[in-house]
Amino acid sequence: MRDGFVVWFTGLPGAGKTTLAIAVENALRARGMRFVQRLDGDVVRQDLTRDLGFSKEDRDENIRRVTFVAELLSKNGVATMCAFISPYRVARAEARRRCHNFIEVYVDCSLDVLIARDPKGLYRKALAGEITGFTGIDDPYEPPEHPEVVVHTDRETVAESTAKIISYLEGRDLIPPLGAPVEAR
Ligand SMILES: Nc1ncnc2c1ncn2[C@@H]1O[C@H](COP(=O)(O)OP(=O)(O)OP(=O)(O)O)[C@@H](O)[C@H]1O
Ligand SMILES: [Mg+2]
Repeated sequence: MRDGFVVWFTGLPGAGKTTLAIAVENALRARGMRFVQRLDGDVVRQDLTRDLGFSKEDRDENIRRVTFVAELLSKNGVATMCAFISPYRVARAEARRRCHNFIEVYVDCSLDVLIARDPKGLYRKALAGEITGFTGIDDPYEPPEHPEVVVHTDRETVAESTAKIISYLEGRDLIPPLGAPVEAR
């Protein structure tokens, strides 16, 4: 059986974490990988961590619980995609320490483009002062210092950013090459 791993997408709201996590998940399934699980901030916050808000303490607790799940999955052969803003370096370092084959993907995008993109309309609200504690506007984001992969979604297409991540995973021999025989998956 293949080794499990965690692809941990971190970045500002709207940077493209969910989009890329889904694209990578689809690419892995297209290669015949069956043990793939995606954990996404929006979904997790409706269930596993629905009691939590957006204070520093609650954001850390959100990531601590998700890390627990990602650790179990990755140690049991599952290709795990984690899409969380995860703004704090220390919390991500703990995820790195506990998860098997932790691959940090910094989903980088300029604030100008994020504000223009604003898929959920939250930048507009944060800039208007209608919501507070919004990461990137009036709440901190600590960029990774040594991410395994950096994608620049303000100047790459989704396909280009996805290809970067897939080729990194191939280079680490964590995923089978395209067209590999079934027993290699
Ligand atoms: N190279 C790229 N990679 C990912 N997304 C891109 C890229 N280029 C443009 N986009 C667009 O940026 C938007 C990213 O939205 P997405 O919901 O994936 O962000 P997110 O990081 O998950 O945000 P949130 O933190 O609010 O969950 C999408 O509309 C997507 O189509
Ligand atoms: Mg998302």
